[in-house]
Amino acid sequence: MKAIINHQSVNYQVEGESSPPDNRVLLASDIDLTADAAWAAAGYTVADFLPVAEQQLLQAGLAELVREALREVGQPVADDFPVSCYHELIGDDTDQHLAVINITKQYTQDQLPVPVALLEARVGALCGRPVQSLNPYDSARVFHLRIVRPGRSDNNPLHRDVWLPNYANCINIYVPVAGSTPNSSLTLIPGSHWWPENQTERTLRGACYNGAAYNVPGVKGAAEVLQLIRPNPADKEVLLFSPYLLHGGAVNLNPDATRISLEMRFWPA
Ligand SMILES: [Fe+2]
Repeated sequence: MKAIINHQSVNYQVEGESSPPDNRVLLASDIDLTADAAWAAAGYTVADFLPVAEQQLLQAGLAELVREALREVGQPVADDFPVSCYHELIGDDTDQHLAVINITKQYTQDQLPVPVALLEARVGALCGRPVQSLNPYDSARVFHLRIVRPGRSDNNPLHRDVWLPNYANCINIYVPVAGSTPNSSLTLIPGSHWWPENQTERTLRGACYNGAAYNVPGVKGAAEVLQLIRPNPADKEVLLFSPYLLHGGAVNLNPDATRISLEMRFWPA
């Protein structure tokens, strides 16, 4: 399947049994946490996030978590190792990369470098209603670090989070930690949170994407060429986006920097 990211053509190889036709708009029967915001139609916004000192504390602490994960898998990195150089250490060692991802794919919120209440307050202010980072389906309070090496297909396929259970009714954040640029940051399709399911074709179960198996189903095709953008939040900013938007597929086109980002979800408080 071909798509366009910021006017650049990319090719996604997505395989898996197709989901049956479905003309529903999933968000129509769920809670839209963007509804009261000026950016409701686009489904995402980029805004200043935490006060400067707290944002720096957050990013430095998350980078340290990546260094700790590297040490756990046998890479004795120094305290000042720049995590954007992750790919120089790991290279194409799939086993070692997966061992790191196994650590960084989920942390409990007591490992967050700043109080979670700070993030909840800012996300709530941007949505215009109170939120909390507590999953009502499984009571989890977690966050994730995404690590996407340049030139490898570490990014997940284009998807909606709500194709998986337990992610309805929430809002997502993406905060840059390292290597997040106009060539590597998260891609999404503005306005697609209101698209009917049959506007795209997707896999029924987890997609096989560029040869790797993912838990999440992935978009296989669309009647029209999909136009993705990278909102690319700056260091002091956050990308806030509806999990009903088609997003992901964010191939890292940086010449020489691994992209690392914080992802976290918030539900109505
Ligand atoms: Fe997602």
